[in-house]
Amino acid sequence: MTDSAPGRARAEAHANIALAKYWGKSERGDNLTAVPSLSLTLDALTTRSEVCFDASLSADEVNLGGKQLEGRELERVRVMLDRVRLQSGEKRFARVESANNFPTAAGLASSASGFAALAVAARAAAELGPDAAAASKLARQSSASAARSIFEGFVELGRDADAAAPVAPSSHWDLCMLVAIVEQGKKEVSSTGGMEQTRLTSPYYAGWLEAAPPLFDEAREAVLARDFQRLATNMERSTLLMHASMLGSDPPIVYFKPASIALIHAITGRRAQGFPEAFTLDAGPNVKVLTLAEHAEKTENFLRSVPGVAQVLVCRPGPPAALLELGGPLADARRLRVVGETRT
Ligand code: PMV
Repeated sequence: MTDSAPGRARAEAHANIALAKYWGKSERGDNLTAVPSLSLTLDALTTRSEVCFDASLSADEVNLGGKQLEGRELERVRVMLDRVRLQSGEKRFARVESANNFPTAAGLASSASGFAALAVAARAAAELGPDAAAASKLARQSSASAARSIFEGFVELGRDADAAAPVAPSSHWDLCMLVAIVEQGKKEVSSTGGMEQTRLTSPYYAGWLEAAPPLFDEAREAVLARDFQRLATNMERSTLLMHASMLGSDPPIVYFKPASIALIHAITGRRAQGFPEAFTLDAGPNVKVLTLAEHAEKTENFLRSVPGVAQVLVCRPGPPAALLELGGPLADARRLRVVGETRT
């Protein structure tokens, strides 16, 4: 069994959560980011994708979790496939099948793992060769956070950087990220739309652009030194400053729900009592709590007891994107070849 055949390949990638956030696109365009970010790839949240270029197709077809994509969602995938066709000389349209092992409707950022898996599979199907930096760049052009999901463990994406780069492998630090899924109301503002609204209307956006790089530097050093308190302080500050810039938008962007606020207070209080726990939130109400692996069970039990928390997902530092064997159900395919390698 091979990991790709002419015109066809499968890949998987894992979601990541930013420890130091990016929010805002660079003035240079091409979906480059205005501030550097640092993330942790998560083992438990996976997307698998198969791309098959097929001469009998008259348009790209994309199926996500059994549902045929249409409109803007389909267009985002097509744009990536067009880039791959341009780079490889592949002329055929593609059939894409993609599945997450976590509920897309739970409000988790599936675009990171989704576009990373798609970038790796599409490049391999077009016989472009397993180049991690090229896959990361391709993923970044569709969703900047997806650039980081090519690599394992701790990953950085510099300001205006074409591709993400590894900082430390998943074995570097035995952390645990618990995702507390907060009950959802109506659909949130998309991250792309929210960033643009913040840039155009928030008086605090300039402050965010100034504050984010030193927080990134501090968080990066804290990760390398395995200094939990230092990482906790900088991660929470990065989250709150990012949300402050959104709150200052007109109209305001408020992702917090009552349970999000309750969790922010609870985690702050618990850390003051000596628990190794820190919170972070992205473009949605879910609260992700970082802790040391040895403490994860206590954190999980606590999160489950908080009213308004619907579900808790337990994640550890995760592996890099990989090509999968062909044949048989996508969900059962074995990992064959890693694409994002981490140097230590
Ligand atoms: O690139 P996007 O659209 O996935 O934006 C992600 C933005 C945040 O998740 C809020 C922050 C981050 O760095 O992941």
